[in-house]
Amino acid sequence: MKRSLNIIVAVDQKNGIGKDGVLPWNISGDMKHFKDITMRVSEDGKMNAVIMGRKTWDSIPERFRPLKERINVVLTRNKDLHFEESVIIASGLDDALKTIEDHCSDKIEKVFVIGGQQLFNEALKDPLCESLFVTHIDNVFDCDAFFPDFNRAFTLKSKSGSIIEAGYTYYFCEYKRSFLER
Ligand SMILES: NC(=O)c1ccc[n+]([C@@H]2O[C@H](COP(=O)([O-])OP(=O)(O)OC[C@H]3O[C@@H](n4cnc5c(N)ncnc54)[C@H](OP(=O)(O)O)[C@@H]3O)[C@@H](O)[C@H]2O)c1
Repeated sequence: MKRSLNIIVAVDQKNGIGKDGVLPWNISGDMKHFKDITMRVSEDGKMNAVIMGRKTWDSIPERFRPLKERINVVLTRNKDLHFEESVIIASGLDDALKTIEDHCSDKIEKVFVIGGQQLFNEALKDPLCESLFVTHIDNVFDCDAFFPDFNRAFTLKSKSGSIIEAGYTYYFCEYKRSFLER
């Protein structure tokens, strides 16, 4: 079965997502939103999967990883790296999706790509990628990692009100794919 992919990301006004391997901001309301969206399931006994690049895995503090109550999938080309036993290692996005289907298809409800830049670039081009959960932060940060422009291929479906926290203003949007760019 081909399962659809969801992306969850937080961007600044210039689509910046990271700097020096970490998030340039610390917004607890967005962390909670990330947790809520990626952990929410409609059926008891199911879980969502989160797929991330190895650098995003590295950026998560050790005490928080693997991300709890989610199936963690890490993409790397380095066969010498070792991860916790529960973590699924994949050599690419297609391999990740196939491994999920082969090993835990019955258990999984949704699949989220959670970063970083390399993986977002790849996932956005995938026709299976149908939904984007985007936190827009109304500031410009000094970033060296960016989310690609997605406005041509995706349509806004919902937008929350603005939230102000620790000097930042941000809001949550959901976008759905309207067509596939070649
Ligand atoms: N704002 C947000 O929502 C958000 C979310 C997540 C991350 N980020 C930020 O994004 C930045 C990291 O992004 P990044 O692009 O540098 O790194 P990344 O995408 O997290 O990880 C890149 C690594 O993943 C592996 N990889 C990626 N694509 C692969 C593929 N197709 N097949 C096999 N392996 C693959 C490779 O690992 P190996 O080198 O081990 O082979 C590659 O070096 C950080 O600043 C982070 O804080 C922001």
